[in-house]
Amino acid sequence: MKFTKLLTVIAVSGILAAAPIFSQNARIKIDTDRIIGEVNPNIYGNFVEHLGRCVYGGIYDPDSPLSDDMGFRKDVMEAARALNVTLVRYPGGNFVSNYHWLDGVGPKEERVPRMELAWNVLETNQFGTNEFAEWSRRLGAEPFFTVNMGTGTIEEARRWVEYTNIKEGPYYAELRRKHGYPEPHNIRYWALGNEMDGWWQMGALNAEDYSKKAREAAKLMRWTDPSIKIVAAGSSSYGGDADPDHWNSTVLRELRNYADYIALHTYVGNRTNDYYNFVATPHIMEHRTRVVRGMIDREMQHADRGSRDPIYIAWTEYNVWYRTMGGEAGTGPRALEEHYNFEDALVIAGFLNGFIRNADIIKMANMAQLVNVIAPIFTNETDLFRQTIYFPLELFANHAHGVSLDLFVECEEFTLTGSTASEAGRNTFPYLDVSATYNDGEVVIAVVNRHKDEAIRTDIISQTGNFSGNFTVYEITGPDIKAVNDFGNEVVKTVEKPQVRARGDKVTYTFPPLSITMLKGRID
Ligand code: AHR
Repeated sequence: MKFTKLLTVIAVSGILAAAPIFSQNARIKIDTDRIIGEVNPNIYGNFVEHLGRCVYGGIYDPDSPLSDDMGFRKDVMEAARALNVTLVRYPGGNFVSNYHWLDGVGPKEERVPRMELAWNVLETNQFGTNEFAEWSRRLGAEPFFTVNMGTGTIEEARRWVEYTNIKEGPYYAELRRKHGYPEPHNIRYWALGNEMDGWWQMGALNAEDYSKKAREAAKLMRWTDPSIKIVAAGSSSYGGDADPDHWNSTVLRELRNYADYIALHTYVGNRTNDYYNFVATPHIMEHRTRVVRGMIDREMQHADRGSRDPIYIAWTEYNVWYRTMGGEAGTGPRALEEHYNFEDALVIAGFLNGFIRNADIIKMANMAQLVNVIAPIFTNETDLFRQTIYFPLELFANHAHGVSLDLFVECEEFTLTGSTASEAGRNTFPYLDVSATYNDGEVVIAVVNRHKDEAIRTDIISQTGNFSGNFTVYEITGPDIKAVNDFGNEVVKTVEKPQVRARGDKVTYTFPPLSITMLKGRID
């Protein structure tokens, strides 16, 4: 299709409204029969690690007047609740590879402080298993534990399952009861270690050694509680010693009868200040998803899993992270306090679109992390603010549910060469990055217009029924791509725009440049 550029003045929010903007045309076709898969609510997960001010000074601050009876910051809890967080990974991250869970249970005055070697701080152990389970319960999210596969043993991992999930009888179940928790916490999701291929991991292993240890841990943990779901550690894929393909295929082969998920991680950044490269980086995640999907398919042919689902992909860490990686900002009590700008929010929306487009295989994702540490929520002693990346997560987690639809999207593309293109396995990228979900007549279309300067006038065409009623329109906007939020000054945020009347099988909408838009309506 040939596109013509029209000189159009478009009413858009923020400073972008002042200038005349060239508009191009696009088409999105929606067919509600073309279902990719069920969107698992666990893609709206998050992550709390004992790192910097994520736990201490983040979710937990017993000396603060802002905290509840257990020392949980109520304002943080409220901001997290509005994110509709479904499950929260804990307690690490790199931290977990030398964490011994028994240090963090029992009377607080008897808990011993330890040297914490991943992030170079003193770990007081005042917050541990029971505090996290209770915090998750108050939040309304499911706790998801990672066991220590570095310096920990498979029996230590098994005992943790006994402590949290067995009602009564054996020693560790009785220990939990003695600690004031008569009912089990019923932790359903358990990850077998973190980034075990990375040289930076305490007790890192090669693929073969990890697979053997993880498989035996999985057996013991599942024999302790057969209802648990097991998440095997995939390759961290960003500079580990291991070849990611060798690591992932070895782990999948050895754990094909035991694992329910393979965990992958990705962080992206804009070190060279190259906007188009940066906004394309979520496609690297989609490319790795395709590669690992193929490996899973191959192993599932030979697996003996009874009636269990095939192995799914869990992106258990994803985010923008580059400003505070390494150096002084990358360690100590205020580690990883990244301040996000508007272009970072566009990237997060790209990740969420990517998870939805791969809803048949990606069944879990955890933004890393929830508070202060590369996080959507940022606190000081008296206040908090929502970073730019908070808003796309909030929008998707609250609205994009049901099944994911396989869309036809036609629009102009930008071309990239270099590492993002090769890691993403493509060199052209549509300006409009789109996903759609469908839930009992309700359709939600998420569109990121990545064009820096041009609005894109788009015909949205329903191929299976007519639109009815009005589209509710949410837009995430800000004064410029480098705009950041701060205490008392959230300049990047979601605004609700005037509703759009939707009749017949076509609605035309113009997406402003540099915008995240969510359209919510009905197809009957
Ligand atoms: O999320 C920060 C760190 O990034 C985690 O501890 C680790 O798993 C990853 O390298």
